[in-house]
Amino acid sequence: MRQILYISTASNMVDASTADAILAVSQRNNSADDVTGLLYFDGKRFLQALEGEAAAVSRALARIEGDPRHRAIVILSDRIVEEREFGAWSMAYRAPGTDADRFVERVSTMVAGASANVRATFTSFAETRRAA
Ligand SMILES: Cc1cc2nc3c(=O)[nH]c(=O)nc-3n(C[C@H](O)[C@H](O)[C@H](O)COP(=O)(O)O)c2cc1C
Repeated sequence: MRQILYISTASNMVDASTADAILAVSQRNNSADDVTGLLYFDGKRFLQALEGEAAAVSRALARIEGDPRHRAIVILSDRIVEEREFGAWSMAYRAPGTDADRFVERVSTMVAGASANVRATFTSFAETRRAA
């Protein structure tokens, strides 16, 4: 099973309703392809984990990379895992101005089953973006 982790910067046109639309399409496509993971969005940055059969993950990534709603995609980690580390497909969205502590807590809960490195990436990302 392939697991990919990347960060990207949302383009200016992305607002909460765009994020909802991205999530809806992702849920539909990913469940058809048996791809799971986590999408984090804080209004400015995306951080996404994708897991599934290697070819299915590559196809999803190819679509995502061509999407003009974000740019500056940086792959943080690309590895083979024995089992999924993110159970179900889910998204953590922090609307600007909402409680940062609760958000960091929620992200920590969502990544509880992930490997130490992946967990640390998400948690520190959420912490760093706390003031953003
Ligand atoms: C940050 C971000 C994450 C995305 N994640 C996924 C994803 O996990 N799965 C997916 O199919 N599409 C994802 N998309 C949407 C794709 O870029 C693309 O719009 C979509 O797959 C097209 O699907 P359709 O051909 O069914 O309309 C994402 C887009 C963005 C900007």
